[in-house]
Amino acid sequence: MTGYHCLAIPGPTNMPFEIRQAMERPLEDHRAPDFGEFTLPLLEDLKEIFRTQTGRVFVFPSSGTGGWESAIANTLNEGDKVLTSVFGHFSHLWADMCRRFKLDVDVINEAWGRGVPLDKYRELLEKDKSHSIRAVLVCHNETATGVTSDVMAVRQILDDLSHPALLFVDGVSSIGSLEFHMDYWGVDVAVCASQKGFMMPTGLAIVGVSKRASSLCEKANLPRCFFDFSTMARMNDDGYFPYTPSTNLLRGLRASVDLLLKEGLDDVYRRHFRLAEGVRRAVLAWGLSLCADSPELSSDTVTAIKVGPGIDANEIIKCAYYDFKVSLGGGLSHLNGSVFRIGHLGWTNETMILQALGGVELAMLKSGVLFEPGVGVAAAIKHYSGTKRLVLQAA
Ligand SMILES: Cc1ncc(COP(=O)(O)O)c(C=O)c1O
Repeated sequence: MTGYHCLAIPGPTNMPFEIRQAMERPLEDHRAPDFGEFTLPLLEDLKEIFRTQTGRVFVFPSSGTGGWESAIANTLNEGDKVLTSVFGHFSHLWADMCRRFKLDVDVINEAWGRGVPLDKYRELLEKDKSHSIRAVLVCHNETATGVTSDVMAVRQILDDLSHPALLFVDGVSSIGSLEFHMDYWGVDVAVCASQKGFMMPTGLAIVGVSKRASSLCEKANLPRCFFDFSTMARMNDDGYFPYTPSTNLLRGLRASVDLLLKEGLDDVYRRHFRLAEGVRRAVLAWGLSLCADSPELSSDTVTAIKVGPGIDANEIIKCAYYDFKVSLGGGLSHLNGSVFRIGHLGWTNETMILQALGGVELAMLKSGVLFEPGVGVAAAIKHYSGTKRLVLQAA
């Protein structure tokens, strides 16, 4: 089939030409005497994306999962208690990783579609008078359900109770796209990956680490080698890495950071809100509903859509892929078959979103979903154009 393939999944996302061009270069000497002139400013500028002045950012050749592992292994000891909540596929996987590291994991299971249970976090942290909870985990943006949680509110709870637990945040599908303030929110480890808001290929875990988290590294007894913060910090101080870095990905990351900073982070966040709102209006116009339980939880990077009884979401996804060259995200774990997801993060704009929505409409029609053709696309267009209502002129 002719024409571009439309990538409307929540990562990997579309890659800007600037990033592709930056990576399209001969392989280089990562131990060259001037390599630090490239890496030191890059590591410094990444702090702006995480919005930290006091912390530092490490870049590991890995995916986001490795970033999760680095948070745990560098700061905790076997048997340490951590508090977390599961309300989707990714929050589940991080909790599972904590168990595999033999941590004592206190998990609050929430309905998928809800966010971090603030009341329950407060209740459990308040009860923990001996401060045995060493870390609190938050999945900022649950990509499986399209739910964004309130990280600042978790920080507020810890501060209200003067609880010293570390705050770990999974920002894999939020950092670089949604409002994120590592210092202001008092985040100790913030985990991100290259293939989402950074608009790059998969291959880098990008991890923000507070001074406090860094200082725990020497004493933490969990096994680690590849993800050791101290070793990385020592080498990074001079602009080098403890092992062969992916220099081409780092060149791409430089271009990515430049693009984000040039647009301005606040404008990046506003753009994501505007684009997401068009998608949400389309979903409502189709007569379908969001996985997110309430409007304030709706993610601006990914929308998870419930198709309702008698409709197979996988059929829509397959049809969109094979017949219309549109890639949509599937329902993960027990949402398989009942949910499809539209990714709207990274290097995207109104017409790219409309292309995805048009593809969804074609696929839904072909799969027998009943709705007025064009109604979702029209709702998004009205939102993007600021049109309140259509006035048809008589000829
Ligand atoms: C919220 C969230 N956390 C963690 C991960 C895991 O990241 P990776 O697949 O890069 O290992 C993902 C992947 O999509 C994610 O969306």
